[in-house]
Amino acid sequence: MSKKILILAGDGIGPEVMTEVKRIISWMNARGLTDFAVSEGLVGGSAYDVHGVPLADETMAEAMDADAVLLGAVGGPKWDSLDFSVKPERGLLRLRKEMELFANLRPALVFDALAEASSLKLDIVKGLDIMIVRELTGGVYFGQPRGITTLENGERQGLNTQVYTTSEIVRIAEVAFDLAYKRGKKVHSVEKANVMESGLLWREEVQKLRDAKYGDIALEHMYADNCAMQLVRNPKQFDVIVTDNLFGDLLSDCAAMLTGSLGMLPSASIGADIGGGKRRAMYEPVHGSAPDIAGQGKANPLACILSYSMMLRYSFGMLDVADMLDNAVQDVLNQGIRTGDIMQAGATLVGTSGMGDALLKALEARA
Ligand code: NAD
Ligand code: IPM
Ligand code: MN
Repeated sequence: MSKKILILAGDGIGPEVMTEVKRIISWMNARGLTDFAVSEGLVGGSAYDVHGVPLADETMAEAMDADAVLLGAVGGPKWDSLDFSVKPERGLLRLRKEMELFANLRPALVFDALAEASSLKLDIVKGLDIMIVRELTGGVYFGQPRGITTLENGERQGLNTQVYTTSEIVRIAEVAFDLAYKRGKKVHSVEKANVMESGLLWREEVQKLRDAKYGDIALEHMYADNCAMQLVRNPKQFDVIVTDNLFGDLLSDCAAMLTGSLGMLPSASIGADIGGGKRRAMYEPVHGSAPDIAGQGKANPLACILSYSMMLRYSFGMLDVADMLDNAVQDVLNQGIRTGDIMQAGATLVGTSGMGDALLKALEARA
């Protein structure tokens, strides 16, 4: 039976990069490699323009019902002055919260062909393979109380609250430890236990879990500021990093640059088991809507394409098809085909659709 995939392309470069993913899905369906029934919906500013909200209830319901969701990017200057409650970003946050996608996996992998495209020296990043596990439904993104109020003295006050409970910490740490088992068996847990109680609780609970259930895993605790520094000093010391919602957001953008470009980093946002081993999941590139290059046909579609590959792998267990797609990406990079963000001397510069063309050719060659 065919699997239901909901595509939410969003704003800015979202629809541009998603066009290339849709070509790949069609190619795979036509080849009989997959049997996906694709539907599309609006999210972000493009949903606001039509419905007055960044995610309509019907779209939310479709996401809950889909076997997997693929999201492009949301936001842009056109909607920056909207009230907080209807900002494009709220559409994405609602999807994450209501689907309970608490675990965001953000792999930072340096392709050999791109090792020289990093802003760091070749020997520092060559062969790098880090998995950042970002908590996605808690922390300061969702903590109460929040808001902007006017104080008695007439000053305005902006308030957000960082909150974590033990169960939220334990379930994300379990994901990190389980992943580490299949990788380098090393986890860095990152917080600021020196200044935040929620960070101290995080540290204690992660340590307790490690001691009780994951004796084979080497666990180190690291302050978030130091982690940011260590990521650019010596990133290969890391295997799996587990951290909260806000630190994970910052550290994954930082890790993106180790790989050459934000345009290369995919992610998987995964929920709890909802019965029968089924988990809700949404796949989304780490990058945003890139207003500075939107509409110019030059965005790198690889982060979105690699997010689709994570969907094949994590939601559907189609490891061979996912490997084929990952290998085709590698082929294209080895052929010296580059979008502007990863351009190198002597390489061939292409736009978004040129990258899609090259990838389809590489897939044909491998099929
Ligand atoms: P951004 O990620 O959109 O862009 C940062 C820089 O990286 C820009 O110079 C951009 O051109 C470049 N870049 C990003 N993706 C690229 C790609 N695929 N190919 C080539 N270059 C790429 O971050 P920003 O500028 O801080 O945010 C712009 C908007 O996107 C904001 O409204 C923000 O809220 C939103 N945003 C959305 C998401 C998401 O939907 N998941 C993520 C981050 C930011
Ligand atoms: C990301 C983005 C989002 C976040 C925004 C757009 C809500 O930066 O997915 O990394 O902060 O989580
Ligand atoms: Mn981000």
